[in-house]
Amino acid sequence: MSNVTLRELVKVYGRQVAVKGIDLEIEAGSFVAFVGPSGCGKSTTLRMIAGLESVSHGDISIGGRRVNDVPSRDRGIAMVFQSYALYPHMTVYENMAFALKVAKASREEIDRRVRHAAEILRLTDYLDRRTTALSGGQRQRVAMGRAIIREPQVFLFDEPLSNLDAQLRSAMRVEIKRLHQRLGTTAIYVTHDQIEAMTMADKIVIMRDGLIEQAGAPLDVFERPATRFVGQFIGSPAMTILDGTIARTGDGRPGVRLAGAETVPIDADAFEPLAEGTPVSLGIRSEDIVPEGHGMPPERAHRFTAQVNLTESLGNETLIFAEFGGADLTSRMQRPRPVEEGETLTFLMNTERLHLFDAASGRSLRR
Ligand SMILES: Nc1ncnc2c1ncn2[C@@H]1O[C@H](COP(=O)(O)OP(=O)(O)OP(=O)(O)O)[C@@H](O)[C@H]1O
Ligand SMILES: [Mg+2]
Repeated sequence: MSNVTLRELVKVYGRQVAVKGIDLEIEAGSFVAFVGPSGCGKSTTLRMIAGLESVSHGDISIGGRRVNDVPSRDRGIAMVFQSYALYPHMTVYENMAFALKVAKASREEIDRRVRHAAEILRLTDYLDRRTTALSGGQRQRVAMGRAIIREPQVFLFDEPLSNLDAQLRSAMRVEIKRLHQRLGTTAIYVTHDQIEAMTMADKIVIMRDGLIEQAGAPLDVFERPATRFVGQFIGSPAMTILDGTIARTGDGRPGVRLAGAETVPIDADAFEPLAEGTPVSLGIRSEDIVPEGHGMPPERAHRFTAQVNLTESLGNETLIFAEFGGADLTSRMQRPRPVEEGETLTFLMNTERLHLFDAASGRSLRR
């Protein structure tokens, strides 16, 4: 396993700058997920690390060696794509063995490595099958087998699970995670699924428009989003954002006056000093807005009423979308009771869990 370092990495396609200067340190043996909306530069970054795209500016190092000019096959990497790109006319065994054959490894060596990988991936019973006679999940495991066989220093994954159905996806998620724990190989995993990123990675890199918006441990990014964009991108359903200005509540405490004239008290010590009248975005997650009487009331709660627009029953809980302060909010009802659309409910907002962002730049105002 090797560390990977990106320095001022840029990729220009003609007039378009797909990656605009990325600095990132990926520790040896870690599992790093790149997330972000479509077109933000995830695959381009990965492909530059793989050596499938040239670097326009900046440096890539793998294991302390600058690899900008090193051909892909000599970088010690193995890549797994969304389209598995298996050879249909070959068996599972032949698919896995192919790269080693090309590299002129001995028969014994090839056999040892193929059987070892097949065992890890539970493919031993399928070695003689054509890959066309496999399920999607099995094909994906063969694709991973081909990567494992090469005993790379770094695994690169580009949305490897996006062709699978939801159930298989979550099973494969566990499988890839287990594989990583077993092999300890550095892994870089591109996905636009934030749940995949949250559950698998030691570190999440959130990209937006060719730049890194934030990089950090999953919980850290969830609890302390550096920007409004990250707050809304990480976590499901998306964080509610309410626009307002810094003001005083009726009893003189600091708060945020929302467009609908309601003022929500804030814990001013948690944030940078803010002058009254400063425009801000207040962020709050659905689990921190609970209908009164459902779940533990928060210690410091702001109580308000709002009209329900829409509900989504998930069985164990119901998501409630309601109109509040001139915007839409999302609340989570535990141990749900039936809720009518149009009904007015009383909610408790946990004011200790509020996020504040600068309205213009979106930057977090947390201290
Ligand atoms: N070969 C290319 N030529 C020109 N532009 C490209 C090329 N490849 C990618 N781009 C552009 O670079 C930007 C980043 O693309 P990239 O494929 O890295 O996005 P992505 O984050 O992987 O998105 P997705 O989630 O849709 O896969 C996009 O605007 C894309 O149109
Ligand atoms: Mg992509």
